Amino acid sequence: MDPNAGPFLGHQDHIDDQPVNPRQESSQVPRRTLLKGGLAGGVSLALLSQLGGCCKNGGSDAQLLGFKSVPVQTAEDFDQVLVADGYSAQPFFSWGEPVVPGAPAWKQDASQNWQDQLLQAGDNHDGMHFFPLEDDPQNHGLLVVNHEYVNDTLHPNGKTVLDGKRPLAEVLKEQAAHGLSIIEIQRDSEGQWQKVANSHYNRRLTGLTPMALSGPVAGTDALQTQSDSTGKRVLGTLNNCAMGYTPWGTYLICEENWHKYFYNSDEKDYQTRPSHKRYGIPHAAEKSNYGWHTADPRFNASPGGYVNEPNRFGWVVEVDPYNPKSMPIKRTALGRYCREGATVTHAKDGTLAVYSGDDTRGEYIYKFVAAGKYNPKQPEANRHLLDQGTLYVAYLDDQGQGEWRALVWGENGLTPENGFPDQAYVLLNARLAADHLQATPMDRPEWVAIHPESKDVYVSLTNNKNRGKDDPLHPANPRANNLHGQILKIQEKGARPDATDFKWDLFLLAGEADSNDPSLGGNINGDIFSSPDGLAFDASGRLWIQTDYHDSAPQNSMMGCNQLLCADPGSKEVRRFLVGPRGCEITGITFSLDYRTLWVNVQHPGISYPASDGKSRPRSTTVVITKNDGGVIGT
Ligand code: FEO
Ligand code: CA
Ligand code: CA
Ligand code: CA
Repeated sequence: MDPNAGPFLGHQDHIDDQPVNPRQESSQVPRRTLLKGGLAGGVSLALLSQLGGCCKNGGSDAQLLGFKSVPVQTAEDFDQVLVADGYSAQPFFSWGEPVVPGAPAWKQDASQNWQDQLLQAGDNHDGMHFFPLEDDPQNHGLLVVNHEYVNDTLHPNGKTVLDGKRPLAEVLKEQAAHGLSIIEIQRDSEGQWQKVANSHYNRRLTGLTPMALSGPVAGTDALQTQSDSTGKRVLGTLNNCAMGYTPWGTYLICEENWHKYFYNSDEKDYQTRPSHKRYGIPHAAEKSNYGWHTADPRFNASPGGYVNEPNRFGWVVEVDPYNPKSMPIKRTALGRYCREGATVTHAKDGTLAVYSGDDTRGEYIYKFVAAGKYNPKQPEANRHLLDQGTLYVAYLDDQGQGEWRALVWGENGLTPENGFPDQAYVLLNARLAADHLQATPMDRPEWVAIHPESKDVYVSLTNNKNRGKDDPLHPANPRANNLHGQILKIQEKGARPDATDFKWDLFLLAGEADSNDPSLGGNINGDIFSSPDGLAFDASGRLWIQTDYHDSAPQNSMMGCNQLLCADPGSKEVRRFLVGPRGCEITGITFSLDYRTLWVNVQHPGISYPASDGKSRPRSTTVVITKNDGGVIGT
């Protein structure tokens, strides 16, 4: 089968675009749904009136933050999800729950084997998105949830290492707990969301699922291995952190810290192989992080059969949740790096861009602009839009101006004389090409969110303890030993996704204010937090901010456990909406189409959560949040 032709066949057609609101538009409710039984017009108009439209150009709206701030939670034994007064939060979907029909129930002692884990929810829930189903898009859909990595609690007694080797059964269980879950969900007559057990949509993608590689790097020598002479087939996706979703109804899985799963035992080879060295593949001079190579030869990236296996990770993986038989596709045109997420936006004329951060200290912000135009009237034409286009990297000057520099072979010095033989090499080694273009090293770029009206691009820069040492100070990354991070705002010229010039400024600096030197302290207008990570706008223009800091570190002790906050982009006021249990990170965010349901993920809680069985080992969990009066979240 041609990987560029078949995988999406059988997808239900999305025949038209109904721009009810930005979120709904991008969630692709087909027109025939909206015409059915008078549902459409009613829902659309009602939604618009409830949401009250969006603040103009990010301008302040006194009504935007309608809830009372949740206080910080500093107790060492805090084991709940506390949400603003008038709201409820319930555990909804935890590690180990049955997903695929026939899956066994989760076991408290974690004794399920790797074959069981292939059918159950993975670990470390991260990015996610709600995709409506056409029979009742307000109340029925698919929840797609990433599983980033695994905790030691995956195994009954933690990870085993015997004589320096990992047991294969444990390694396979770890591979099986990565990837993503797709689950069908429905709101019942009481207004409660329920999981639909044994749905034919329910699916797990894991570190063992066959996937296609497409785009300019697919099929090249650099992607061929002992198991795949075509360079177009790969097993699995790993370290699936944040995500994206397209207006044609697909989900974009992102591969973040994939490099840590491999090991190159040949130090000389490592030192001379840019696709390993520039990405920090564990090598002879240091220890392998996970030891998978000791049990599974695919992760032994020493010269030999699998030296190219790491080249097959670090991509965006497009998956069609509506078609349970579709094969996921790794889209190489978007470049290879440690990609946090992939935020898609498009202009009215169909010009489409995908924004991503490379979340490593001193790495860059990228943008991919598709060569073709998104056309809602030709769904099949959109299916492979992410295979051709231009990858750019951000250069920020020190005066609030910036430019997107193209990673195009033959331009900007990306030539054979400078070590770039072709475009496939440029994409495979995107970090090297970006170095050559003198892109601006950032303080760990995580999520990107785009304001629904102004199209301003917000990027969380979570923290960077190397700033001022390895990475020079820069006005956009202004603090040495940056422990708390900042949120960057980019305004594209003409608000165009394909602009090559932009303005930038800092939306806020996180952390405590410093009365001795205000330039070194935080400048939050409102509730304190550190290390912004997850970012999302709702349709009304509220900016939701999720945090990922060490809640036991001294500099964070006064802000307690990790949080979900909400900001007004105009006034910049920030209010704490939710606090998670001790030791967790709050990440992943998606809404129902009516914005009356919010889902967020509690990742790696350090304390028993959810405690529904009274003695549970901690489990990463999707939490469902509603307003007690049935209103829109945040009001
Ligand atoms: Fe997986 Fe950059 O957070
Ligand atoms: Ca993250
Ligand atoms: Ca993070
Ligand atoms: Ca995480």
